[in-house]
Amino acid sequence: MKLNIAVLPGDGIGPEITQQSVKVLKAVAERFDHEFHFEEAAVGAVAIDILGDPLPDSTLELCKKADAVLFGAIGDPKYDNDPSAKVRPEQGLLKLRKELGLYANIRPVKAYDKLLDRSPLKAENIQGANMIIFRELTGGIYFGEKTTAEDGRSASDLCFYTVEEIERVAHLAFKSAQTRNKKLTLIDKANVLETSRLWRKTVTELAKQYEDVQLDFLFVDNAAMQMILNPKQFDVILTENMFGDIISDEASVIGGSIGLLESASVGDGNALFEPIHGSYPQAAGLGIANPVASILSAAMLLEHFGLHDEALVVKKAVEISIQLNICTKDINKDNHYSTEKVGDFLESVISDTENHMINNENLNFGQMTII
Ligand code: IPM
Ligand code: MG
Repeated sequence: MKLNIAVLPGDGIGPEITQQSVKVLKAVAERFDHEFHFEEAAVGAVAIDILGDPLPDSTLELCKKADAVLFGAIGDPKYDNDPSAKVRPEQGLLKLRKELGLYANIRPVKAYDKLLDRSPLKAENIQGANMIIFRELTGGIYFGEKTTAEDGRSASDLCFYTVEEIERVAHLAFKSAQTRNKKLTLIDKANVLETSRLWRKTVTELAKQYEDVQLDFLFVDNAAMQMILNPKQFDVILTENMFGDIISDEASVIGGSIGLLESASVGDGNALFEPIHGSYPQAAGLGIANPVASILSAAMLLEHFGLHDEALVVKKAVEISIQLNICTKDINKDNHYSTEKVGDFLESVISDTENHMINNENLNFGQMTII
């Protein structure tokens, strides 16, 4: 398969983690005889610095004509601490999502057996947790009208949704539930918010088309508690933009590190793949950032194009690296590997066409000499 992939490394640790994903995708292309072309463009704070715009037109054009976008991270503390800043890096990502029509952000979350003790949550509560969050991505309070009074003493953000916006992401969530444990939980605040009541009404109506899926509802405050108390109850979660942003960061605690969580943002045409974590500016250039979230996002990219065997090889390689503790500092505190070394390891596992590393059940991990 031929794929044109736009690579937007962005800010902070974005470039170093994205580099590892490109390495992994190149190894996949080589092994499975695909042609992947990569073209880089600036986004975020770096784009503001060079071109005065967090999403330059040239970057947007590149993304529009690409088959997929591989996105790194966005954000810089010099803007976080300056509420009066007129342009902000995050605007680049938000505009990109809107312009590409990426209305569904898909975030899988699972507990890795080997990392149960990495999570601050009790192992017995999280073992076996496996869910997928469908977050609406181009509506709600993120995109509603924003105002600040002239005297600077009041401000507002409007939360606005249409039935169509709810339906299109809900369809994807229901379809996903049909391929999993057939349970869908809508997270909202329908006891208070008008938009949440519209979500409930619309999703309840839609559920009639998916009779094999059991639909239930949780208020977001309760859901935040349930995510910690009993995350195993969740299969597919559907929620609006801001609740999804918050709940998915919270859910990342189950996996033991936010550096493991991948995501895909899809619409009717384009698709973008990015880790859920931020730009982690304190770690930029230090080689300590975990590239796995970005690499698993690349696996989602492969899956998006129906390259299931290829995606599986990447996911297996990640599992092997976790088994062997060939991991960055967030997971392997005492004997950690650098961002690049983890990428190199995954590349070698993928390039191991003999398959003996992946298929050999009796592999003696301790004796591997691959790096
Ligand atoms: C995310 C991020 C973004 C969001 C920021 C960087 C704008 O937190 O993708 O979850 O809030 O959507
Ligand atoms: Mg977020």
